[in-house]
Amino acid sequence: MSARGSSGVKTPIGGQFQVASVADNYRTYLEPVLFSPWAHRLVAYAGVRPGDIVVDVAAGTGAVARVAARAGGEVTATDVSAHMLEHVPAGIRTLVCPATALDLADESVDVVLCQQGLQFMLDPLSALREALRVLRPGGVIAVSVWATDERLDPFDAFAEALQRDAVAAGSGRTISNAPVATTVHGIVDQLIVAGAAEVRATRQELAVRWPTVDSEIAALFGTPFGPFLDSLPGGRREGVLADVRQQLDRDGHTATHLTTSVLGRGVKR
Ligand SMILES: C[S@@+](CC[C@H](N)C(=O)[O-])C[C@H]1O[C@@H](n2cnc3c(N)ncnc32)[C@H](O)[C@@H]1O
Repeated sequence: MSARGSSGVKTPIGGQFQVASVADNYRTYLEPVLFSPWAHRLVAYAGVRPGDIVVDVAAGTGAVARVAARAGGEVTATDVSAHMLEHVPAGIRTLVCPATALDLADESVDVVLCQQGLQFMLDPLSALREALRVLRPGGVIAVSVWATDERLDPFDAFAEALQRDAVAAGSGRTISNAPVATTVHGIVDQLIVAGAAEVRATRQELAVRWPTVDSEIAALFGTPFGPFLDSLPGGRREGVLADVRQQLDRDGHTATHLTTSVLGRGVKR
């Protein structure tokens, strides 16, 4: 996600995962429904084996780290947000550091994983190069990013409600999901340019459904959208939430959403 100010300049707001309430809501409402099911796909795509030394980059609350540990990996979860990492369970080591400066030795890791993290980074290519630095020769890097031109709800519903609010308020400031998405070619190019070998990528779909409309709306407060919404003056916050509820509520029930990701994989030379 990115914020667009009245100047039209896009400002990455991934740093807002550093807000404690965002981390709490992410762990409670987003990880179990959306990120944990996708984590199983990424860990399978990487081929994590028992005994592998695994690093989860931009690990957040540890969705991927948990699945990799269950697959028998010896896992370290890294992220810039200490609040996100506070939710990572005991038994998984945590490191607060940017993806571009992992506090790990050269060629010390078997598998690097990064789920829905690259798109929040100012310099994703440097992050991929850093991942390759810590991988041993023959080690595997596997990453995932939402697919371009596919709807991603509830986030798109939220973005549309914010857009309508901004127009009504005469404000130029909006949030869009577009900058957080990529294509198979985009991921392949990034991995090749970073220096990985045996690069491939796949586009996959996964249906998700929140148990209740309230929990689906609460999930939005586990993203940088939450603090942005809370910053709106007057009754605009309530108006946006009413708009989102109208879009998501199906006679008191939630809808199933199809989500689409691009998973990419490469090997350290
Ligand atoms: C959408 S969350 C994904 C978290 C986790 N990988 C998952 O699948 O649930 C994005 C994460 O990227 C982290 N992040 C953003 N920029 C980063 C950077 N430059 N280095 C490391 N982590 C970063 C954020 O703090 C946040 O935890």
